[in-house]
Amino acid sequence: MLKGILNYAHYLLEETVEKGEVVIDATCGNGNDTLFLSKLVAEHGYVYAFDIQEQAIANTKEALTFHERTNVSLIHDSHENIADYIKNTEIAGAIFNLGYLPKSDKTVITEGASTVAAVDTILSLLKKGGLVVLVVYHGHEGGKDEKKSLLKYLFQLDQKKYNVLRYGFINQKNDPPFILAIEKK
Ligand SMILES: C[S@@+](CC[C@H](N)C(=O)[O-])C[C@H]1O[C@@H](n2cnc3c(N)ncnc32)[C@H](O)[C@@H]1O
Repeated sequence: MLKGILNYAHYLLEETVEKGEVVIDATCGNGNDTLFLSKLVAEHGYVYAFDIQEQAIANTKEALTFHERTNVSLIHDSHENIADYIKNTEIAGAIFNLGYLPKSDKTVITEGASTVAAVDTILSLLKKGGLVVLVVYHGHEGGKDEKKSLLKYLFQLDQKKYNVLRYGFINQKNDPPFILAIEKK
């Protein structure tokens, strides 16, 4: 049975990341992925979670408090500034859930230039065998531009250094989301 997009994104990270490792949620939103990562790396691991919206940071904080998770730093800043917060640290995995915060301001969206800058920084911190997973929503205004920039960047990654996967359902209507995953060799 083929896994749905969000399940497959988590499955890929479950297959890669070990307890005690350090990971990144580049777009914490309502905190679902942050919570997932916090449990995945467990008490001795650590999660850095970013979002540019105050509301997203508040929602994620609430989810983490409710589930009594303490191994997370919530950072209210753009993921393009990741290098200001994470230095000399080996990252095992990262997730980006692109687009806008559900049930919120649909004009605050992830954008090509900052998404590509963040992926590029994370790849420089990623350990061998580590994985960056992006869930790409592209049905909203601005989504196609971001998808184009991201694919352009990923197409030129050296195949000797990275495996880049695309996973999605091609017979779904209305711009179905898909996954891009980058594995460092
Ligand atoms: C689709 S939502 C994320 C959903 C989230 N992963 C969850 O589990 O609920 C996308 C989020 O990206 C955030 N965002 C947009 N641009 C950003 C940026 N440059 N840096 C960090 N977060 C950003 C938005 O504020 C929004 O909360």
